[in-house]
Amino acid sequence: MQFIKNTPKNSSQNSTKANLCSEQKPQIILVIRILFEVVWTILRTNYEILKAIIKWFIPPEPKDVSDEIVLITGAGHGMGREVALRFGKLGAIVICVDINPQGNEETVKIIKQGKGKAFRYECDVTNREAVLKLADQVSRDVGEVSILINNAGIMPCKPVLRHSEKEIRTMMDINVNGNLWMIQAFLPSMLERNHGHIVAMSSMAGKMGLRNLVPYCGSKYAARGIMEALAVELHEDPRDTNGINFTTVSPYIVNTGLCLKPRIRFQRLMKTIDPGDAADQIVDAIRRDYHEITIPSDLYYGNKIFNLLPPGAGKILTDFIGTGLDPHD
Ligand SMILES: NC(=O)c1ccc[n+]([C@@H]2O[C@H](COP(=O)([O-])OP(=O)(O)OC[C@H]3O[C@@H](n4cnc5c(N)ncnc54)[C@H](O)[C@@H]3O)[C@@H](O)[C@H]2O)c1
Repeated sequence: MQFIKNTPKNSSQNSTKANLCSEQKPQIILVIRILFEVVWTILRTNYEILKAIIKWFIPPEPKDVSDEIVLITGAGHGMGREVALRFGKLGAIVICVDINPQGNEETVKIIKQGKGKAFRYECDVTNREAVLKLADQVSRDVGEVSILINNAGIMPCKPVLRHSEKEIRTMMDINVNGNLWMIQAFLPSMLERNHGHIVAMSSMAGKMGLRNLVPYCGSKYAARGIMEALAVELHEDPRDTNGINFTTVSPYIVNTGLCLKPRIRFQRLMKTIDPGDAADQIVDAIRRDYHEITIPSDLYYGNKIFNLLPPGAGKILTDFIGTGLDPHD
């Protein structure tokens, strides 16, 4: 009887054991897979770190841009103009876009005088419909834009409570939404060809908070955030998007007339920058496919170290450096 009684128990124990074994098998396979992935991820991450270190010591050769169609917003003045002139000299076809016809015309004239190829389009980057029409028109008149430089921007400078609603909305429209409309207009053809480069003009004010620039800092952090997210989105896109590059530029104070009242405690250490010098560095970064640059370049690591500090220590350091902008009005 006992034997008979035990038989079903044993058989059920055996089948439970068998079930456990068959359940454990996929779990073991999963653990092995994850372990393999961890090792593979560590190897690949280290490979990329090594590549970055080598790139730091031996920068990649600047790419030839003579076959590229480069579109620059805000090309009628300041850094936009200087960047446009340099691409003109390098043999690229330059599409100058600005809301200001006089400045834009002047930029195109200078490029053409230097035997460069340039076209001008007047467009307000805040107007999404106008931007989509611009993309269509440029494609028909000239061809597909391969380097898009979102440079147009404004910088009202005063304490946050003195900014009018209109001022804040206009600035966000130009500095943030303008970038998005341009990306929506020009990215599709880059994706079709798996060839392109998108550049954003952020600022050191997009990497650290500064008084009198609360909305502007917000807009420049946003410009940087857009670029980070776009790079991730395209990396995860099932299509091959390796041919599309991104560069975010964060300049300190450049003498274009945008920063009217800079306050700099250590003038020798923190010089304001000539727009031509800034443009040289921007064009160089684009040609070498750098993901991010600051102008001057030493602020890049300075800012990274600053961000590691606790907020109290950061404030003490900021007070000591004493750099910033006084209100424009
Ligand atoms: N100058 C600096 O110190 C500095 C520092 C950091 C970042 N930046 C950023 O670099 C970029 C260029 O700065 P800059 O000093 O050369 O500026 P700038 O004022 O010299 O030139 C900006 C150009 O953008 C154009 N523009 C303005 N609104 C526009 C619109 N709605 N549509 C189309 N074009 C428009 C203007 O007409 C002008 O030609 C800006 O985004 C700015 O925020 C400047």
